Amino acid sequence: MKVLITGGAGFIGSAVAKKLIERGDTAVLIDNFNDYYDPKLKRNRIKIFLKDCKSGFTLYKGDIRDTKFLERVFKKEKPDKIVHLAAMAGVRYAIEHPLLYVDVNVVGTTNLLDIAVRYKVKNFVYASSSSIYGLNKPPFSEKDMTDTPISPYAATKKATELLAHCFSHIHGLPTTGLRFFTVYGPWGRPDMGVFKFIENIICGKTIDVYNFGKMKRNFTYIDDIVSGVLTVLDADLPCGVMNIGGDHEVALMDYIATVEKYTGKEAKKNMMPMQPGDMASTVADIRKLRKLGWKPTTQVKQGVKNFVDWYKEYYKIV
Ligand SMILES: NC(=O)c1ccc[n+]([C@@H]2O[C@H](COP(=O)([O-])OP(=O)(O)OC[C@H]3O[C@@H](n4cnc5c(N)ncnc54)[C@H](O)[C@@H]3O)[C@@H](O)[C@H]2O)c1
Repeated sequence: MKVLITGGAGFIGSAVAKKLIERGDTAVLIDNFNDYYDPKLKRNRIKIFLKDCKSGFTLYKGDIRDTKFLERVFKKEKPDKIVHLAAMAGVRYAIEHPLLYVDVNVVGTTNLLDIAVRYKVKNFVYASSSSIYGLNKPPFSEKDMTDTPISPYAATKKATELLAHCFSHIHGLPTTGLRFFTVYGPWGRPDMGVFKFIENIICGKTIDVYNFGKMKRNFTYIDDIVSGVLTVLDADLPCGVMNIGGDHEVALMDYIATVEKYTGKEAKKNMMPMQPGDMASTVADIRKLRKLGWKPTTQVKQGVKNFVDWYKEYYKIV
């Protein structure tokens, strides 16, 4: 099977690519290597993390907003399926750059849905987000209304779900949106709190703890995300959305304590009020994806340990 992965140099995209290639599929990666966070990390995911997979993928540097670029790639590669992960992903940055988010996340996704129909793609799996639950009360279920997003980022993800539904309905394109819940682990995203805590605690810097630490998350380890993406990619469902999150509700302060344990350092905490766009609690109801046979297997202790070990090795911390 040939799978096109947009955002292929990203945190989740590179991990999905690795697993697909290891099981014998071919991957076509698209990424524009933008500098929202250090592009060197994106290049190193390709160069180092995917170094043993070289013969299993082709990389195209380009932008999902560029329809001519997409046409060239699809004409040459004719992918069987798509995992669409490219997006502007940070919640806070979106508040200052809403137009960029609409452009990349909404227009870019529509370009891909459109070309997927024309090239008769068999399954279109795309990244949504737990943030679309906005003002809802947790635990969040796919049956809940999601009409109260509280950041432009979340609103763009809601828009992609609506667009995917239209394309499935009109053209019969199979689409599944995965609502990711706080993904963490090796090769993670430096703009995310889960990464910054490790970085700052190791470097002896103060960490900002929002909502005075009163936050809860279903932290989801990257390997569990990858197995969930592959489960859905193989299932070829007609149209829908699914939560994909860890199976334990973890208090933010417990996550920080676990980082302290595995870094061997005490955190200097700057307790702060809630930030605009942030949600105090994102707790997932994951029964729908479980019904497909998926289950998360990495507990936060092990996941944080792996993340800290990777961080020290990658950034050469002795
Ligand atoms: N990591 C999480 O906790 C999380 C949570 C919810 C949703 N998501 C969603 O999952 C997806 C993947 O997230 P991630 O954490 O791997 O983020 P990431 O930023 O590491 O990966 C996204 C990749 O897309 C690329 N990209 C961005 N704009 C592009 C464009 N216009 N054209 C081509 N490539 C472009 C980036 O360079 C990046 O490498 C995103 O859609 C994100 O919104 C992630």
